[in-house]
Amino acid sequence: FAGIATSAQNGAPLYLQLKKAIADAVRRGLLVPGDALPSERDIATRAEVSRVTVRKAVQELVRDGMLVQRHGSGTFVAPRMDRVEQSLSRLTSFTEDMARRGMKVRSAWLERGIYPPSPEEMMVLGLSSKELVARISRLRIANGTPLAIERASLSASTLPDPDAVGSSLYATLEKTGNRPVRAVQRISAANLGDADSKLLEVAPGSASLNIERISYLLSGKVIEFTRSVYRGDAYDFVAELRLSS
Ligand code: GLP
Repeated sequence: FAGIATSAQNGAPLYLQLKKAIADAVRRGLLVPGDALPSERDIATRAEVSRVTVRKAVQELVRDGMLVQRHGSGTFVAPRMDRVEQSLSRLTSFTEDMARRGMKVRSAWLERGIYPPSPEEMMVLGLSSKELVARISRLRIANGTPLAIERASLSASTLPDPDAVGSSLYATLEKTGNRPVRAVQRISAANLGDADSKLLEVAPGSASLNIERISYLLSGKVIEFTRSVYRGDAYDFVAELRLSS
């Protein structure tokens, strides 16, 4: 972690630079699951930062799920995440899927606001050109690993205040009786472009799965149109098939 202090001029707060340096060490395999993190004092000396800075960086990595703290014995690199096995026959939310696996979810907001709809949004959501659309785009992160980018569009009459969406869109919709009960999902293979690969922390051109979900209320009204980009190296989609009679 040496050199953090000397590169401090580049703007980002020191604890964030240190956090990134530790996360990079884990990603590059310099620290592997189960490894103990050097002591706070050790890291502070090597990185030429204060112990408060080290504590802050470590606390964030624990919160993200990349490190685990065991009372009395120290801080360790968390077990590596297995590929996520995702059922294709249940209509669940990202938050619910991850919570069921005991993973900590965090989202980084990429965009949220109210806009005039695109022709595609008008068509899918059944909006007129006078109506507005709420867009929310998020990077979805589980146990510190970015897994997917989700770009959702909903009618602004359903979601008048996108800023009010907390950690879960479906939980927000549930509160107003707008949780979808059915969805049609289309999955196609793709390769990540530069911007998305940066967000997902993989090399440009890496495999991805593009998932388009159109979800419906019981009344048949379309409630959500979401385009997602999932990391190809992190997901297995599983469906049960039955012989049709
Ligand atoms: C899944 C779906 C999205 C949906 C999201 C809601 O990931 N692919 O279409 O918008 O769940 O998740 P949450 O309620 O955690 O925001």
